[in-house]
Amino acid sequence: KRLVVLVSGSGTNLQALLDAIAATGVAAYGAEVVAVGADREGIEGLARAERAGLPTFVCRIKDHESREAWDAALTEAVSAYEPDLVVSAGFMKIVGKEFLARFGGRFVNTHPALLPSFPGAHGVRDALAYGAKVTGCTVHFVDDGVDTGPIIAQGVVEVRDEDDESALHERIKEVERRLLVEVVGRLARNGYRIEGRKVVIQ
Ligand code: GRF
Repeated sequence: KRLVVLVSGSGTNLQALLDAIAATGVAAYGAEVVAVGADREGIEGLARAERAGLPTFVCRIKDHESREAWDAALTEAVSAYEPDLVVSAGFMKIVGKEFLARFGGRFVNTHPALLPSFPGAHGVRDALAYGAKVTGCTVHFVDDGVDTGPIIAQGVVEVRDEDDESALHERIKEVERRLLVEVVGRLARNGYRIEGRKVVIQ
């Protein structure tokens, strides 16, 4: 299976996928990353892709006259690589109707909180501020909401009294990277069905 991964930052989730595929082998893992896209230049996630010899593309909102035009450009850029599955690994933009029309049902996101708690761009900070005792990460299919699509898997992470946002986020990311690698591999190898809010992996 062909994966396109979308990033906006350090790309450690992307790196975890690349390392797992290199260690396991494409055939055994069931998928390979064929391209990496971003919404901004100069991020470590793109440098990781380049070091891995992968094609990259950047779709910046400000290069387009409207949000819809950006969404269409992103859809076209991703479509060029003919992915079976698109993975948002820290991609910090909400995709639009055209992208979902093309990739809905095969577009997976990872979020650093236990959805439906703490959706949005500051899930780690919000859980900490709320005083949650446990939080974690969620891998889910993307729908037309923000972090509201059908949940595939979740991992629990305890919140420690001495945690600040970055310490907690690092601990979450350790679980998140393992969860994403495991889920993407299973989706690619086994195939799956989405039945309402339920995801059935064969
Ligand atoms: C991940 O925790 C992701 O859930 C969140 O931002 C982080 C991205 O980390 N949206 P990285 O870029 O994969 O290192």
